Amino acid sequence: MSDGLEGVIAAKTVLSHSDGERGIVWVRGHPIAELVAHGYEGTVALMWEGFAGDQLTREGMLRQLGTGRMLAFSRLGDWLPAAKRRPPIEAVRMALAALPDDSAPANIAATLPVAVAAVAVAALLRARRGRPPVAPDPALTTAADLMRMIDDAAAEEKVVSALDSYLTTVIDNGLGTSTFAARVIISTRASLAAAVTGAYAAFSGPLHGGAPGLALDMLDEIAASGDIDRWIERKLAAGGRLMGFGHRVFRVRDPRADLLRAALQRLDPTSQRLAFAQEVERRALAALERRKPGRRLEANIEMDAAVLLDAIGLPREVFTPVFAIARAPAWIAHALEQQRSGRMLRPASTYVGPAPGE
Ligand code: ACO
Repeated sequence: MSDGLEGVIAAKTVLSHSDGERGIVWVRGHPIAELVAHGYEGTVALMWEGFAGDQLTREGMLRQLGTGRMLAFSRLGDWLPAAKRRPPIEAVRMALAALPDDSAPANIAATLPVAVAAVAVAALLRARRGRPPVAPDPALTTAADLMRMIDDAAAEEKVVSALDSYLTTVIDNGLGTSTFAARVIISTRASLAAAVTGAYAAFSGPLHGGAPGLALDMLDEIAASGDIDRWIERKLAAGGRLMGFGHRVFRVRDPRADLLRAALQRLDPTSQRLAFAQEVERRALAALERRKPGRRLEANIEMDAAVLLDAIGLPREVFTPVFAIARAPAWIAHALEQQRSGRMLRPASTYVGPAPGE
């Protein structure tokens, strides 16, 4: 057995699949590129069909998530006072932890944008100027309402469209670590709210969903150093990891990186940061091949995600919670699918410690 459980099949799913050799991601039989046209709400309806309802539609999902955001806003007092003093990534965890166990799927998913806007970003931007969080508009899409709640003004259509493309592109990719965590938790017959809170906790680490903010920090550090190759060599020589490279499944370039890049090019065709990120990527790939020949470490989505989220106007401290807005519907769908199997997940370990009396 490998320490990282690679190759272990831990679930059967109809929800999503990543093929790391061919560079494809499917969600319910659709290539991920096709889903961008469905938008976030349309894709959530597709993923939840048969699990969190039947004959789900984009319009119905818009309504459910809009109502869910209103409910989350009405419950701000449950967690906002304590969460305001914490960094956004922790604040959002507190918002999820405050959910009642009997929360419905849409109300759990809708808690995240409200938490990000009303707690995390409020702590960073608005609260400093003493202004209260902005109430949701349930008629808007998640992307449009998130930007509106953050900026207290309607966002430009191209910004909303870029964020919606991001949320849809990164929604699911098979049994990621956080998705696995959600399945483990729900298998004990714990609540869906508990499963999503645990999945978020697993997600928040720098090797997983915690990566995009750190990828932007890395780009800034490299730019400040004035020497891309030297910075990369030093990092690798010190045993450090380059954020935005490597993946447990993908041995070729992650296909979603190009979709995110296309969204950025639509939003800001002359992005200087993208040009710089492309140069860093080129040199980093060469350095990784020199240092780890044959490992096939390719670009994952995180550098393109970071540059896109930055161009959208989101502060890097909320990149991970925004990523979680995308992933929460997948955690929910996988948890509901796991619930159907009824079997508790409980693997075994090999004991390598001393025997009694040794
Ligand atoms: N930079 C430098 N070295 C790396 C990197 C990297 N980004 N990724 C892998 N390696 C090295 C490891 O140190 C290891 O070397 P060693 O065996 O000599 O110790 C070897 O390559 C392991 O390669 P893999 O088995 O392919 O990596 P693993 O599956 O264990 O890890 C992971 C995957 C965690 C994503 C890793 O590539 C990484 O840390 N990347 C940087 C963080 C990142 O971008 N995370 C986001 C991933 S996407 C997502 O989760 C949403």
